[in-house]
Amino acid sequence: MPAADPSTAPDAAALDAALAALRAGQAIGLPTETVYGLAADARDEAAVARIFALKGRPADHPLIVHLAPDAPLEDWARDVPPAARALAAAFWPGPLTLILPRARGVSDLLTGGQDTVGLRIPAHPAAQALLRAFGGALAAPSANRFGRISPTTAAHVREEFGDAVPVVLDGGASEVGIESTIVDLSGDAPRILRPGAIGRPALEAVLGEAIGDGRTPGAPRVSGSLDAHYAPRTPLRMLPADALGRALARHPAGAAAPQVLALDLLPPGAQGLALPAEPRAYARGLYAALRTLDARGAPELLLAEPPRGEAWDAVHDRLRRACAGSGA
Ligand code: TXA
Ligand code: MG
Repeated sequence: MPAADPSTAPDAAALDAALAALRAGQAIGLPTETVYGLAADARDEAAVARIFALKGRPADHPLIVHLAPDAPLEDWARDVPPAARALAAAFWPGPLTLILPRARGVSDLLTGGQDTVGLRIPAHPAAQALLRAFGGALAAPSANRFGRISPTTAAHVREEFGDAVPVVLDGGASEVGIESTIVDLSGDAPRILRPGAIGRPALEAVLGEAIGDGRTPGAPRVSGSLDAHYAPRTPLRMLPADALGRALARHPAGAAAPQVLALDLLPPGAQGLALPAEPRAYARGLYAALRTLDARGAPELLLAEPPRGEAWDAVHDRLRRACAGSGA
């Protein structure tokens, strides 16, 4: 992770308002380095239930528990394996969620009734300041309504929830821009359940072994693994650059034009936005770009297909789901 930017740390009054809301059992908008979360006291069942109600999320989709740096994992997980210690030492605070066997007393509401719990120590200075001041753990899914695009700014969270979530801590635009890598360490062998900024080679280098994927029968329920997810409302199609050019050329003059999400440069005459052809910068801008283009009310969004290869895996994972769920 890049060094924390002090300008993203909230002022004392904003922190106090967030703390007061959390202590009153409310859900708040929480900046993290991946995406914004909808956070509430992880030990308060009514507050956790409020998160599900606000998001419209089915009860069997578990939430990630966010911890302050140096918080004891044993409060939440039992039988913490050496692999978890190694990954935590290498990547926490940071965009990694570990799935571990849950400790006694961890609510079914958090875990979707599973015997495992998802844990993450975020790197964002505002999230850390809040977690330290709160002195507990915060359950937080991404702060979007179920199935929609995750928010990467405080304004996105306000767009999603309006007055229903009165306190949104503003920590600037999320640095990573897509959700954390999820690694399941609760089974016989580690598995990646959701790709993210921390890629397979980095994980394998720390663990000293190959890591499998989560798409196997009996894998735990992960809402990010549903196909229709992270989706704009406008129908979305991904095309290789040459096919995109042809699709635009075929477009009848006078008809409402599609919006384009291009790589590096918007083709001449096209309407839309371009993102850098570099995986981290692309991921950082992706969700904000999809929100902007979605709001333009075009008949279709056309996406220039990014390169393939390990460094682009997490981006392709999100784009595939966005295409599968769009226009719904
Ligand atoms: O980057 C992130 O992870 C963001 C920020 C806010 O931390 N959070 C996030 O939360 O993306 P959410 O709820 O949108 O996605 C978390 C994913 C869900 O797909 C959930 O099913 C999965 O983590 N998850 C949580 N606990 C789990 C468990 N015990 N077993 C399997 N999957 C779990
Ligand atoms: Mg989510």
